[in-house]
Amino acid sequence: MINEKLEAAFNEQINKEFYSEYLYLAMKVKFMEWNLKGFVNWFNVQVQEEHAHGMGMFDYLDERGGNIKLEAIAKPEFKGTTPLEIFEEVLAHEQFVTSSINHVADVAEEVKDRAALHLLDWYIKEQVEEESNVGGMLATLKLIGDDKKALLMLDKDLMARTFVQPVIG
Ligand code: FEO
Repeated sequence: MINEKLEAAFNEQINKEFYSEYLYLAMKVKFMEWNLKGFVNWFNVQVQEEHAHGMGMFDYLDERGGNIKLEAIAKPEFKGTTPLEIFEEVLAHEQFVTSSINHVADVAEEVKDRAALHLLDWYIKEQVEEESNVGGMLATLKLIGDDKKALLMLDKDLMARTFVQPVIG
């Protein structure tokens, strides 16, 4: 069994992970329009990762005998009109997700659920990686500035990113 307050926090986080999947899918469309195939690949991997993050908590709630409550996923919103601006929003979103996962961990601590804290440790570490990865992309995009040739070179490099199904927990 799982504490009700913690169950609600997990359900909210599941929604945020699936929103992240949806947001990155929407951002991917912009890069498809620009025909930047490496960036499209980067977002494809990101979308799959977010799905895995959501399912990790979904399966965990089930394993703990919790009630899974799926709510509506909000319309994905972003304002960026350049790769740099979009990646600024990706980083801001990941920072938001980090604080949100920290909140779930705060609740797990409050209700003294050590097993949940163990799972959440994985997510906390994953967020360090996510922010570092996106921060690196952002730094490169800032360096590139208006250099289209350099942008195309980065795009080529991004084709190499592959999805590896994470082992969560
Ligand atoms: Fe699920 Fe990008 O954090």
